[in-house]
Amino acid sequence: MSWSCCSNLCPSTSSFLTLGYDLKLFNGNKVSNPQAQRQKRKLSKSSKETNISAYYGLKSPPYKLDALEPYMSQKTLEKHWGGHHRTYVEGLNKQLERNDFLYGLTMDELIKVTYNNGNPLPEFNNAAQVWNHDFFWESMQPGGGHQPVLGLLQQIEKDFGSFTNFREKFIEAAMTLFGSGWVWLVLQKEEKRLTIIKTSNAVNPIVWDNIPLISLDMWEHSYYLDYRNDKSKYVNAFMNHLISWDAAMVRIVRAQAFVNLGEPKIPVA
Ligand SMILES: [Fe+2]
Repeated sequence: MSWSCCSNLCPSTSSFLTLGYDLKLFNGNKVSNPQAQRQKRKLSKSSKETNISAYYGLKSPPYKLDALEPYMSQKTLEKHWGGHHRTYVEGLNKQLERNDFLYGLTMDELIKVTYNNGNPLPEFNNAAQVWNHDFFWESMQPGGGHQPVLGLLQQIEKDFGSFTNFREKFIEAAMTLFGSGWVWLVLQKEEKRLTIIKTSNAVNPIVWDNIPLISLDMWEHSYYLDYRNDKSKYVNAFMNHLISWDAAMVRIVRAQAFVNLGEPKIPVA
């Protein structure tokens, strides 16, 4: 076994879970005597006796921080991504250092386990907020807005009657969300249809086995610098200029690995 993998334990490099083995087992020194070598082999074979560290990284948005101007300012991205999102990542990593039983889970698994059937464990809020923000940044793109095309548009028309009706329902959901939270366009696996849901605080719809396609952050920190209390202006800017239907298309194509939508067919991008 190579111990160089420990050098990968860098929270700043990626959003994926990185596993490694704690060098403290051998004090970082070369083990030379036979007894110590036997001990090393014994420890190497026994996962129970191996300390595993897990870290999540702060993933960058898929565009420059000024790329969503003038609809979402660089200043907002600096505070929101560089401040709030970073704090959730750091808080989660600190919590995980103290909790062995959560090591080795994917982020989706971590969220579902810590949701704990509606009685969230302390790690849930940070874990879900990391996921939610990663997803939110990728739910927007420079030059976004407009409307979806092809199969995704057909699915929206099938489930909402028209794109105009979907748009009105999404905006209404955002404007009637009480307190901090999120608005989502999700694919419901069981019902095999699209729907709009609102969640409070950090709650993420994957805890109910829904497949998110789009999210909108309705925490005050996402709009206050640019729009003050004018939530309507923020939500309309998101719908008209920021929402990434390209991302939603990719997500619904992937979702078809789990959900047979039948007709209309969603074309493979
Ligand atoms: Fe946020």
